[in-house]
Amino acid sequence: MIDPVRFLSNRSSGRLGYALAAAAQRRGARVTLISGPTHVPVPRGVTLVPVQSALDMQRACRRHAPRAQLIIMTAAVADFRAQKISAHKIKKGTRRTLQLRLVRTPDLLAELCRRRRANQFIAGFALESRALLAAAQKKIRSKGCDVIVANTPDAINAITQRVTLLWPDGTHETLPALTKPQLARALLDRFYGRVVPETI
Ligand code: CTP
Repeated sequence: MIDPVRFLSNRSSGRLGYALAAAAQRRGARVTLISGPTHVPVPRGVTLVPVQSALDMQRACRRHAPRAQLIIMTAAVADFRAQKISAHKIKKGTRRTLQLRLVRTPDLLAELCRRRRANQFIAGFALESRALLAAAQKKIRSKGCDVIVANTPDAINAITQRVTLLWPDGTHETLPALTKPQLARALLDRFYGRVVPETI
């Protein structure tokens, strides 16, 4: 939020995260879906934990992550938030420009990886508009996750999307163009293959 009527957000719809939640639920997982505001219907059988800000999401992750065997961070978490939320609507008055001071939000994926318990598998995403693989490679190292699913901004709100999975050993796999439900199933196939079998 910036003031009582305005907020900073981004173009991500959340549909892939919801498709992953639905697919995991159908495979028998107990699914907790921590989600910012979106219009996507909540899949049946999934427990929704609604949040608004990155800091709300941090609190929800801290509460729910310790019980999770598989954590998938599809959320397009804001990197910056307004330093001060105005208690009243910001009036334009006579000013021609408005400066907002933004401060960094915590990196939730990196925190989850730092606090991970044994056998917990953590998947991160990387949205890059250039140098996709190099940037994803940097992210998998800096965040410490078990896989990075890299994609480009044209995936946002698209019917089909192509992603590249990158593993810590440097191997990578580019999937064909898939719809979000198809992609969700393909990703779970690969993640489940790496989760220690008896823990699932
Ligand atoms: N992420 C997160 N907390 C943030 C920002 C991002 O947990 N404050 C997670 C996303 O859910 C995603 C991964 O980090 O799984 C990468 O997100 P992305 O937006 O691609 O990268 P950033 O970490 O924000 O880095 P940059 O903006 O420099 O590309």
